[in-house]
Amino acid sequence: MTAQTVPTTDDSGTPQDRPRLAAAVVLAAGEGTRMRSSTPKMLHTIGGRSLLGHVLTATRELDARRTAVVVRHQAERVAEHARAIAEGVLVVEQDELPGTGAAVRSALSVLDAAAHADRAAHGVPLGQEGQVLGDGLEGAVLVVAGDLPLLDAGTLGELVASHVADGNAVTVLTTVVADPTGYGRVVREDGTGDVLKIVEHRDASAEELEVAEINTSVYVFDAGVLRAGLARITQHNAQGELYLTDVVALAREDGGQVRAIVSEDPYAVEGVNDRVQLATLGRILNDRVLEDWMRAGVTIVDPATTWVDVDVDLAPDVTILPGTQLHGATVVSAGATIGPDTTLTDVEVGEGAVVSRTHATLSVIGAGANVGPFAYLRPGSVLGEKGKIGTFVETKNAQIGAGSKVPHLSYVGDATVGEGTNIGAATVFVNYDGVHKHHTTIGSHARTGADNLFVAPVTVGDGAYTGAGSVIRQDVPAGALGVSAGAQRNIDGWVERRRPGTAAAQAAAAARGEGVEPTGDDDSSDDAVVPATEPATLTGAMPALGAQALRELAKHADAADQPRPTSPHSEALDDTFTIRTARTEGTDR
Ligand code: UD1
Ligand code: CA
Repeated sequence: MTAQTVPTTDDSGTPQDRPRLAAAVVLAAGEGTRMRSSTPKMLHTIGGRSLLGHVLTATRELDARRTAVVVRHQAERVAEHARAIAEGVLVVEQDELPGTGAAVRSALSVLDAAAHADRAAHGVPLGQEGQVLGDGLEGAVLVVAGDLPLLDAGTLGELVASHVADGNAVTVLTTVVADPTGYGRVVREDGTGDVLKIVEHRDASAEELEVAEINTSVYVFDAGVLRAGLARITQHNAQGELYLTDVVALAREDGGQVRAIVSEDPYAVEGVNDRVQLATLGRILNDRVLEDWMRAGVTIVDPATTWVDVDVDLAPDVTILPGTQLHGATVVSAGATIGPDTTLTDVEVGEGAVVSRTHATLSVIGAGANVGPFAYLRPGSVLGEKGKIGTFVETKNAQIGAGSKVPHLSYVGDATVGEGTNIGAATVFVNYDGVHKHHTTIGSHARTGADNLFVAPVTVGDGAYTGAGSVIRQDVPAGALGVSAGAQRNIDGWVERRRPGTAAAQAAAAARGEGVEPTGDDDSSDDAVVPATEPATLTGAMPALGAQALRELAKHADAADQPRPTSPHSEALDDTFTIRTARTEGTDR
């Protein structure tokens, strides 16, 4: 039997520059015992994509008319995943028989039925192009194991092209390895070099075991050859399985030509059987992804500690500092700097942004914004252009407008912050009442004091201020100053009375210039009132900055010379409010 040529026109009749596959069959029914995992082997990931996803991505580029995925072990999970990542894929459940031959037989019966249905739907008359309706699928069929994550479309394309050009019945992708133990050996014909048969390790003779060329479980079959061969394979072998590999010898028996292409890239055809191979191929894939990005204009300072998933998108002149992981659908725009020690998952980073020592998920960081060091952006964090989420700041479901800043030690959850607003250090957006989450809204150009609590739901208007240490439970109108903290009381002499003999008490006594015994134990007593004095100056040896550090420091000196604005909080206390210090005679407890 000779191979049929693959149609060279697509549905619209336009000539194609490469032959179109009738079908691709991906084998994903195996148990993957050596993974020792409750997760099916095909669903383990490298580079942010499942093993099955890698193979389906490579086969998709070949544009086969139909793609079938054969499942059995944890069939539902694998099937659901396959449908989710590859639209229109046919999921085929392997029948109860064991082996790769049984898997492809199940697939072919479904593909045949689909081909019949297609013809019926398109009203193609019997006998056109020599087709007999009963034959089902016609043309070239790619068969590929689902556990070859580094298999690339280029290699597959060459395999298909050579299959068609040589008019083969079967074309096998092989590789030569140092240790072929466990693999099917490729037995070639002297002289022609054509493939005679593939012998499984456990069925091989001593001489066949010497062969270092192995079957990679990637093939192109003529559909008719495959159908005829699968009808005749048996379980009479060492493993009692139906071997797909037996179709090779049967094709030869029928006069078909079987040739092999040897892969030059050992990793492209390396299967994942255990977690050691998973990690090895994960590293190789990452190296390749990083190399592609570096060639595309991305600076990656330390490829050894940088991990970038296959679906991440990076613009030219992005800089990635050591210890950075970019996952999922993360997109980084031109000129942004990410890292060191940063993990972004499904994050969009705008042009020129700087993101350092940050852990962020499902968030958007605007152009020119500054995040970190030590920031934690949870899902729904959106930072506007030139905004800042600073040090030890956690955000969640929070929109922080352009130019707004949350510089230090804060939690911003379920919040909207306008533009040009500054959130004081150590602020908590109290969003959770123990049962429900509530929203806080802060307007634009607001200035909130340090150590505030915004007890949601609450709104602070545009241009409003809040005093330091405030607990804001009620709305603050635009332009108002919201203050909730009471006036400060100093209880003189307290330390010497209540903490006698401590270093603090001694320092207090020294500050008064005498070693007076603290008197009494009544906190409200005036007996121990001492005049305020300047704190003692440092007397011990202090480390000093070196000359170069001093020069650097001098560059920043201007900032320190700015006039210090008065505290709105203290102004409010002085001018606006009558502070009721209830229980001024009270205790300090
Ligand atoms: C198979 C080949 C062998 C080749 C090796 C490469 C056969 C008989 N042997 O070995 O020549 O060197 O791959 O790795 O084909 N699968 C099913 N259903 C099954 C069994 C397996 O779908 O009943 C799938 C697996 O999920 C996997 C692929 O087929 O994707 C290969 O299976 P595996 O068990 O790894 O290979 P072997 O049969 O040992
Ligand atoms: Ca295998």
